[in-house]
Amino acid sequence: MENTQNKKRIFSGVQPSGNLTIGNYLGAIKNWTTLQDDYECLYCVVDQHAITVRQTPADLRRRTYEIMAIYIACGLDPEKNIMYVQSHVPAHTQLSWVLNCYTMFGELSRMTQFKDKSSKNADNINAGLFTYPTLMASDILLYQADLVPVGEDQRQHIELTRDIAARFNSVYGDTFKIPEPYITKGAKINSLAEPTKKMSKSDPNANAYVSLLDNKDEIIKKFRRAVTDSDAVVCRAEGKDGINNLMTIYSCFTGKTDEEIVKEFEGKGYGDFKLAVGQVCADSLAPIQEEFERLMKDKAYLEQIFKANSEKAAYLARKTLSKVYRKVGFVQI
Ligand code: TYM
Repeated sequence: MENTQNKKRIFSGVQPSGNLTIGNYLGAIKNWTTLQDDYECLYCVVDQHAITVRQTPADLRRRTYEIMAIYIACGLDPEKNIMYVQSHVPAHTQLSWVLNCYTMFGELSRMTQFKDKSSKNADNINAGLFTYPTLMASDILLYQADLVPVGEDQRQHIELTRDIAARFNSVYGDTFKIPEPYITKGAKINSLAEPTKKMSKSDPNANAYVSLLDNKDEIIKKFRRAVTDSDAVVCRAEGKDGINNLMTIYSCFTGKTDEEIVKEFEGKGYGDFKLAVGQVCADSLAPIQEEFERLMKDKAYLEQIFKANSEKAAYLARKTLSKVYRKVGFVQI
């Protein structure tokens, strides 16, 4: 695939299906900002993935703008990266149909996210929820991405993407680049209420997660309430899930190592530690929130980005799609 800059290519995305949490930020978006100079990056707002779970149309529309505003507010440059909305580039779903025919029922049945989401949405276990990983594979393979920066919960989907790509390549010859997951230390931020579980934007308990748009008081309060243990020593150890999680969050925001954190809080109680985590989190999010508010008032600017960038993405996507169509035997006109 043509890559004029000879840089490796990156693809990733976020669903506009709820308020983004610090898990989405630390596990994904914050890392993307460090990659934008060295890689050719595509960052997508994956609205088609979001409708696998019922969405209120007006909310989905608003959140699509919000995610783009958050991307920019977090420091992603729309001039440097191709930042766009999935439904604006039809090649995603076009490739997805083809790849559905090279993805096994058994493989999709084993996806933990499918099992998890179908248990939470028992009245709406739709076919889209089941084939969701094939659409995700299409997102990635369409752009011949080398790396996919995501949180730990997406690893299984990327492994499946690699299997689908390898299967297709083995039948038709070299067609897709086999992508690698790119997973860093913030890759699994856990719930503040149940620290063995992933922090999730769809958690019904608002104290379990910190939204990127929570204000300082809310953030401090949520960290103060975070579930810990009765040990009262700030250090990473098995069974101290709450403290381990807070140490990861603190480390992601400050860049400090575990040893530095242990030293900083030696002889201090959990109260001091929780306050420090809350403060650094609130202070880091404040400028993002300010920029977000400003951008959300300028819909025309966001729409201009949607348009210009979806054209760039569509240009790249069409190349892979026509190659795939030719290989499987569709007549080209
Ligand atoms: P989504 O929208 O659920 O989450 C977006 C990103 O945030 C990461 N993440 C977390 N990281 C650390 N701790 C957490 N608690 C946490 N919660 C979420 C996710 O791992 C993800 O990187 N299927 C994807 C979206 C997608 C995609 C793609 C990603 C669609 N197509 C192609 C990469 C490439 C999803 O549902 O992410």
